[in-house]
Amino acid sequence: MKNYSKPTVFLLSLWPIYIITYQIFYNKLGPEPVDRIINHFGECTLIFILLTLSMTPLKKITKSLEWIKFRRMLGLFAFFYASIHMLSYVGLDYRFDFEPLINDVLKKKFVFIGFSAWLLLIPLAITSSDKMLRLLRHNWKRLHRLTYIIAIFGSLHFIWLSKTIFFKPLIYLIILLFLLSFRIKFNKST
Ligand code: HEM
Repeated sequence: MKNYSKPTVFLLSLWPIYIITYQIFYNKLGPEPVDRIINHFGECTLIFILLTLSMTPLKKITKSLEWIKFRRMLGLFAFFYASIHMLSYVGLDYRFDFEPLINDVLKKKFVFIGFSAWLLLIPLAITSSDKMLRLLRHNWKRLHRLTYIIAIFGSLHFIWLSKTIFFKPLIYLIILLFLLSFRIKFNKST
């Protein structure tokens, strides 16, 4: 029987696009439409990074390998939404004038760390194919551990731009720490 789980996850992963299209079409973006679009895709990026990190814990908890087949797709969606988030900031906020953007990256620490997270996502997206996995072997796994750093940067970006950890940034941070705790290998002999 044909397995429809991957196309289903793909269509579900497009929900941020459906939501924003609906809000644009029905004029529901609120008083600050540009900020609404930037923040919407920023939050979606963080959600997709956390979803990507959830696949291994879910594999361990359910003892099913099924989850792993969604990991690459979710990771690529994280990169996709991070790029829309960044482009809507550069395009809608600065009309593609790169000078103030570079100033922001250098002067505002939350933009600097967000931009760093986006840069780190690029090599992961480029090397996400099976061909690259075979080519890079052990180094592929090492390289893709960057996901943890990206998730920490994304979380810090949210805390710094919010100027307070309460409450949404804190909720995402707790989820991230919980997911990262699955990666810690406890040495039983010590
Ligand atoms: C992995 C990369 C990134 C993640 C996870 C991320 C995440 C987020 C989140 C969660 C928000 C707040 C959403 C809300 O308030 O509901 C946000 C806002 C924002 N992000 Fe990012 N972001 C990333 C990359 C970037 C990049 C590359 C830039 C620009 C170069 C950027 C600039 C901004 C700006 C300007 C805001 C809005 C701040 C405001 O409300 O004044 N982010 N981002």
